[in-house]
Amino acid sequence: NKVPHVVVLPGDGIGPEVTQAAVTVLREVLPDVRIEELPIGGAAVDASGSPFPAEVEAAAKRSDAVLLGTVGGPKWEGLPRAMRPEMGLLALRKSLGAFANLRPVRVLSGLEHLSPLRPERARGVDILIVRELLGGIYFDGGREKREEEAFNTMRYSKAEIERVAKVAFWAAQQRRGHVTSVDKANVLEVSELWRETVTGVRSAHYRDVGLRHEYVDSAAMLIVTDPARYDVIVTENLFGDILSDLAAVIPGSLGLMPSASLGDGPGLFEPIHGSAPDIAGQGVANPAAAILSAGMMLRHSLGRPGLANRIDNAVNTALRSNPTRDLGGSANTEEFTARVLEALVGTSVEV
Ligand code: NAD
Ligand code: IPM
Ligand code: MN
Repeated sequence: NKVPHVVVLPGDGIGPEVTQAAVTVLREVLPDVRIEELPIGGAAVDASGSPFPAEVEAAAKRSDAVLLGTVGGPKWEGLPRAMRPEMGLLALRKSLGAFANLRPVRVLSGLEHLSPLRPERARGVDILIVRELLGGIYFDGGREKREEEAFNTMRYSKAEIERVAKVAFWAAQQRRGHVTSVDKANVLEVSELWRETVTGVRSAHYRDVGLRHEYVDSAAMLIVTDPARYDVIVTENLFGDILSDLAAVIPGSLGLMPSASLGDGPGLFEPIHGSAPDIAGQGVANPAAAILSAGMMLRHSLGRPGLANRIDNAVNTALRSNPTRDLGGSANTEEFTARVLEALVGTSVEV
């Protein structure tokens, strides 16, 4: 049994604070894990002049999985685009071939009160957003900024749409058997291709899964007014970025939203939130998203779903007892993490 090798990239702002919490929890459930910690984003710019140094890329590629905090912040905003922390993160995703970004949105039973939605709307919500992560307007389509105009191009190949659609249909088969594909096919050619391709993948391979298409503007409204209508949502890169922050409203905070980015190489696991410069350095960030991301790593990359379930339950217990400030509680990062560890010890049998 090989010792799992995890590359940890804490990054900037609250990244190191929430990542430390996640690593503590990971070590508690998997004591023999080998952790290699390296800088990325602004921290890497400061240390070596690049947001994604070659040695970080090499370490990530030979790891079993990568756990990332957050990147970016006011300190680096004035840098040329290629030097910005966010470009380091995009380059890492590309380098790992991580094209399918899974962003679960769940309201666990007993935690409805943390949602700003009425309890009857929040209760039982369990959505999986599958965000395409390596294409669209973020990458490759042609981009330029001139004095008087600028442009970015949203571009997708059929193959890029097919591979992420397959992940969404496969995930739906393990869940409640329904996919909603979100696009803007009434206006955009790229969305027309998206819609045709997703429909084609279903007819060819996944006739047992239900499929509905929705326009992104209407979906933005329906996600918060009728979240129960969704099982799996599949959408392109930029729409998925926006809709997943929006969906964080349902459980009650960005600090509850983990993610897994899967594809050709080692999996990448990170909270969906940013570096939160407004609270960085205060020790009050909600580490739940980072801790749950470590859980997703155990489930998707390290073959230990039982340990992932234990982490989910321990986070649930800690949230019931006293959440962090973003959720109206009073625990700081350290206190919340201690509560998670305490809850883990109570469930030391792997199921
Ligand atoms: P943000 O997600 O950092 O913060 C938005 C709001 O949510 C803030 O009020 C913040 O305090 C709060 N928040 C976020 N995570 C929290 C947590 N764990 N606990 C408690 N409160 C939390 O978004 P932003 O302010 O738009 O971006 C700040 C920086 O982060 C920018 O440089 C941006 O590019 C970067 N960013 C990075 C990532 C990433 O690394 N994956 C994601 C998004 C934004
Ligand atoms: C996210 C972030 C990133 C994205 C940024 C920081 C590049 O917002 O992970 O959601 O847009 O993908
Ligand atoms: Mn985002």
